[in-house]
Amino acid sequence: MAEVVLDKVTKIFGTNVVAVDDASITIADKEFVVLVGPSGCGKSTFLRMIAGLEEVTRGEIYIDGRMVNNVAPKDRDIAMVFQNYALYPHMTAFDNMAFGLKLRKYPREEIEARVREAAQILGIEDLLDRKPKELSGGQRQRVAVGRAIVRKPKVFLFDEPLSNLDAKLRVQMRTEIEKLHNRLQTTMIYVTHDQIEAMTMGTRIVVLKDGVIQQVADPMTLYDTPVNKFVAGFIGSPAMNFADGVIAGDGEVAFDEGTFKVPLPAEVAGKVSGYKGKKVVFGVRPEDLRTKPLEGAGPPASFEATVEVVEPMGNEIFAYVTTGKTPIVARLSTREEIKPGSRIKLFIDVRRIHFFDAASEATIV
Ligand SMILES: Nc1ncnc2c1ncn2[C@@H]1O[C@H](COP(=O)(O)OP(=O)(O)OP(=O)(O)O)[C@@H](O)[C@H]1O
Ligand SMILES: [Mg+2]
Repeated sequence: MAEVVLDKVTKIFGTNVVAVDDASITIADKEFVVLVGPSGCGKSTFLRMIAGLEEVTRGEIYIDGRMVNNVAPKDRDIAMVFQNYALYPHMTAFDNMAFGLKLRKYPREEIEARVREAAQILGIEDLLDRKPKELSGGQRQRVAVGRAIVRKPKVFLFDEPLSNLDAKLRVQMRTEIEKLHNRLQTTMIYVTHDQIEAMTMGTRIVVLKDGVIQQVADPMTLYDTPVNKFVAGFIGSPAMNFADGVIAGDGEVAFDEGTFKVPLPAEVAGKVSGYKGKKVVFGVRPEDLRTKPLEGAGPPASFEATVEVVEPMGNEIFAYVTTGKTPIVARLSTREEIKPGSRIKLFIDVRRIHFFDAASEATIV
């Protein structure tokens, strides 16, 4: 078993660059955890500390119950796959995969068997005699993953391994890495800045911002109940719409954007009652907007907006509209005939709306 535990881990570069700030998390044995966040938020540093490539400033890291702060990388039983593959250009795919085992003085037959097995798992048996320059990007990526697999590590660390691949290959490798996890049943920690990768791959997602863990949850929990505006805006594509406004409340409690008002259903009104007359941020996802009122969704809430851009996606359209104050994107059916420059009325599914504190950005609803 290989549980990975970070206990109040902080990494400070130099005197004041706080790359990871007081991070605590327990990653269970065999779990597939995805670490996601914008560029510079500390993802690589987080992984590199687990791998032992970066010293921990404060806090403790445990692998398999053992505190590893002072354990050398090679003794941590971890394999890491990097974004740039870092293959040796003069070696064949076979030798690249075998290299780590040779260094560790494994017997020849064992090396041969492990490389063949990994190559078979990854479907690169026919490529073992080729050098990296004779391989495509996706094939090189497989060799890099193979080099990690042959070690049979307790934990796999992936640092944006697919970011050099084109869109189609990324999708394919994404499912292959998921299959690999199912097959190997090894703890995996996977770093990406791509929220779609995070949503589709992880059993749990860790959202990081400025070195601070914002939320740890399964994909749908993150999507439906983000803890703050950052997580709400980061997970989902196109992103959640936000509108600044106030909670108006003499009689019926409503959100007032300035150009439109949303009457709030009782359970939402109860939660925002403390914000009457105060500023809040309203949030609604693009798919929770429609051109027709939704049956059974309570009092219809709608607003009028001017269509600026229409993006046909084939199976749906993204309509970029503006209320005059707030830009909003709606995800609509291709059957809708929506023309740039026209005015449209959009209905809000009030069962799925969010509110955030304007100052702290914490979730209210
Ligand atoms: N060796 C270093 N010395 C000083 N600062 C560093 C060092 N390595 C990273 N940092 C800083 O620490 C912060 C986190 O960097 P890190 O590489 O972990 O981010 P990241 O989330 O992996 O970003 P990206 O998505 O761009 O790879 C950044 O502000 C970065 O500039
Ligand atoms: Mg990085």
